[in-house]
Amino acid sequence: MSQPARRVAVLISGEGSNLQALLDAARAGTLGADICVVVSNRAAARGLVRARDANVPARHLGGKNVTRDAYDTALAALLDEYSPDVVVLAGFMRILSPAFVDKFAGRMLNIHPSLLPEYPGLDTHQRVLQAGERWHGATVHFVTSELDAGPGLIQYRLRVREGDTADSLAKKVHVGEHLILPRAVEWLVGGRVRLEDGFIVLDGRRLARPVIVEEQS
Ligand code: GRF
Repeated sequence: MSQPARRVAVLISGEGSNLQALLDAARAGTLGADICVVVSNRAAARGLVRARDANVPARHLGGKNVTRDAYDTALAALLDEYSPDVVVLAGFMRILSPAFVDKFAGRMLNIHPSLLPEYPGLDTHQRVLQAGERWHGATVHFVTSELDAGPGLIQYRLRVREGDTADSLAKKVHVGEHLILPRAVEWLVGGRVRLEDGFIVLDGRRLARPVIVEEQS
């Protein structure tokens, strides 16, 4: 008998271009999973339209005037309706409580627009430019209770060039994100990667550092 399809829930807050990369990979059969639900904390998130266009349940769960714990309890209950195997944070602009992170320990990935551990937090492109960095990129990492600090699985690296702006860097980082996020999700749902004692094991080997994908130029 064939295995039931793996189920991936995606949490977003905005544009959802990374979600689109996952939807495209799921439709092409290269993700090894179905997207079972998309949840946004913002009603106007374009990603909700992308989900509906792909016939995926698109749910808005507003977070104004609720405590973090109350929000996360409601979010966990909503996700339980869809029984996801894996949760992906794809531009989800809320910090999650330790209880929520624990519930999905080893099953939750985030994409962050920097070469973590460098530049956790917001405004990464601007900060990278201001610091005169030569390299920038994006990281897919396992989510732990410390913000942007979980073990890194895969990174996209690009050179910061003369004349780059925060906008040009954001565009180039997005190109890389759309490459590495579906790949990371495919590895996780396919059982090629797992978290063990806080370390990533890929194809049976402990990863000393994230897998690097270089910009093609
Ligand atoms: C991405 O740059 C991601 O790294 C960050 O938020 C952005 C989301 O972009 N966490 P999109 O909504 O997927 O287009």
